[in-house]
Amino acid sequence: MGAKESLEALRLEAERLRAELDYHNWRYYVLDDPVIPDGAYDRLMRRLERIEAAHPELRTPDSPTQRVGAPAAELRERPPVTHSVPMLSLENVTSREELEEWMGRVAEGLGAALPPLTVEYKFDGAAIEVVYERGVLVQASTRGDGTVGEDVTANVKTIKELPPVLALPPARTPARLELRGEVYMMKADFAALNAQAEAKGEKLFANPRNAAAGTLRQLDPRVTAARPLRAVLYGLGRAEGLEAGSQGELLAWLESAGLPAAPLVERAATLETAMALYEKVGAARAELPFEIDGLVLKVDSFALRERLGVRARSPRWAVAFKFPPMREMTRLRAIEVQVGRTGVLTPVAVMDPVYVSGVTVRNATLHNREEIARKGIKIGDMVIVQRAGDVIPEVLGPLVAMRTGAEREFAMPEACPACGARVVFEAEGPQVRCPNISCPRQVKERVRHFASRRAMDIEGLGEKLIDQLIDGGVIEDASGLYFLRVKDLEGLERMAAKSARNVVAAIAASRSRPLARVIHALGIPEVGERSAQILADHFGTIEALAAAPEEELEKAHGIGPVVAGTIATFFGSAATARFIARLKQGGVEFPPAERREGGVLAGKTVVLTGALRRMTRQEAEEAVLAAGGRAASSVSKKTDLVVAGEAAGSKLAKAKALGIEVIDEEEFLRWIGRKG
Ligand code: IVH
Repeated sequence: MGAKESLEALRLEAERLRAELDYHNWRYYVLDDPVIPDGAYDRLMRRLERIEAAHPELRTPDSPTQRVGAPAAELRERPPVTHSVPMLSLENVTSREELEEWMGRVAEGLGAALPPLTVEYKFDGAAIEVVYERGVLVQASTRGDGTVGEDVTANVKTIKELPPVLALPPARTPARLELRGEVYMMKADFAALNAQAEAKGEKLFANPRNAAAGTLRQLDPRVTAARPLRAVLYGLGRAEGLEAGSQGELLAWLESAGLPAAPLVERAATLETAMALYEKVGAARAELPFEIDGLVLKVDSFALRERLGVRARSPRWAVAFKFPPMREMTRLRAIEVQVGRTGVLTPVAVMDPVYVSGVTVRNATLHNREEIARKGIKIGDMVIVQRAGDVIPEVLGPLVAMRTGAEREFAMPEACPACGARVVFEAEGPQVRCPNISCPRQVKERVRHFASRRAMDIEGLGEKLIDQLIDGGVIEDASGLYFLRVKDLEGLERMAAKSARNVVAAIAASRSRPLARVIHALGIPEVGERSAQILADHFGTIEALAAAPEEELEKAHGIGPVVAGTIATFFGSAATARFIARLKQGGVEFPPAERREGGVLAGKTVVLTGALRRMTRQEAEEAVLAAGGRAASSVSKKTDLVVAGEAAGSKLAKAKALGIEVIDEEEFLRWIGRKG
């Protein structure tokens, strides 16, 4: 390719990138309804920046690299407000190397060593400017395109944290102050707001940031007033009569004036301390009560900032150290169908590998056919993948605007992909099942579940070994494990004598697992770990449980009629009776459980939510059981008590809405007698 040709290609690419970025700016800033994840937007912007940097002649004055947000002409019906000092954006860095480069440029720009930096959270909300004249809140505006924003005074005045009048003596009250900050929403408030909207059949907000931005630009301030908006301040536009020479002094002054100053996470950062903070805050990010998408590092001294100056869109004296995006975009290549231990067919998305907040995602469950239809997903779509905290990845939905026409609808297979049996489409509900209980995949999945860590916990009995045991006809089901001898295993592929002995020993050790685990291991449909514990506590022995009629099962606290029916059917089958008999014959002990009564939480249904500080979730659940209570996973009218840890979200909101008693972790520790 000749030089001329490639320049032409770059010119076209830049043009396309500009159009694309304009569109996304409009979606984001005007409609509050972005269609691509932030990470994807950032990549488009970086690519354009790189082209324009290498070929300045390709840069246009109206390029999205030269301004922030959407053009003012496209803003909605709100009076325009011209910012006396442009509201800039921040340069982003995402790695140690990039941060180091930024620090290098700061030092170089000053011709000195790196000056003291402050570190703040990068709040994920909507930027605002609030003007106080002689201590009175007179105007508030959005950022708009950075130069001209929209008037949102009436809405901002509804935010409780922003006093309409500053409580300062006149001598200390600045003549005019343009303060900058962010309007945002707490995660729990957001969840409650969406729960309300859902109940009313209204459109839901995608995330707290969209909710905050949308609320801020409501045309009716009464709507805004009814919504839980919050504000935090971290910057200055023009200021008359304020003595602050640094970020630290500004934040301290804001606090003294009764204003919501952004918390200072670190005062004099170096590369090392910034990296350590990035790791620490990044890891604890999911537990913060509000959303942040990074840290903001700023040169503390205003005089030094002056010397560094600003670029077109961002100041040289500040940088956003962004966390990896929690949402990404990738191609959905195929939808595979997996067969579970109960025969349920589950469609699974097979995607081009994509890095989402620290892990590479390739697969994600799509749950069932109704879910695929509801989300409107087609094979071949570009899809958005989300991972919140340590939660399993989820496909949010397709980018319809990016379809090419080559996408295909998904249909559930008519035959089981594992055994070829004709599948059954359940009349009620979205489920499709393989009806063949001898389906090799089902059998393997049942054994896998039986041996899993939270059931019989048989170490060393992995997926591959189970496949070999079933495929080779060495065992027919999990009960066969208890008749295995070392020599049965030794012959198998990749099975040394020592590991064969270890597996046999691990199987032997599992014979005495507590009753609740054995019940869980049986794989009764709808009966998970928690229900298994309830059944063990209530009935005490496997014989009593197996003989219990439906009415008796329903008496176990927390077992509803549907599950009671499933359990009765399970124990009513001859195959189950044979299976249990074989387990007993193989030496499984089914040790009787102690029936629990009394205790401070006797008969109470307790829901744990949010992040606990002093104990793990499992310890807390065990403590609830030990105190005679029952730990449930969702809040309903039957819930007696909610223990809310930090950053509790929708469950807490629901509990409040239902008037259920809520206590915090400290209180819980007192209840269960672990604290004075
Ligand atoms: S300082 C000229 N500090 O992030 C510097 N911005 O991507 C202006 N943001 O436009 C911003 N938390 O809306 C600053 N502690 C913080 C921030 C923060 C969130 C937002 C702000 C800004 C955007 C840049």
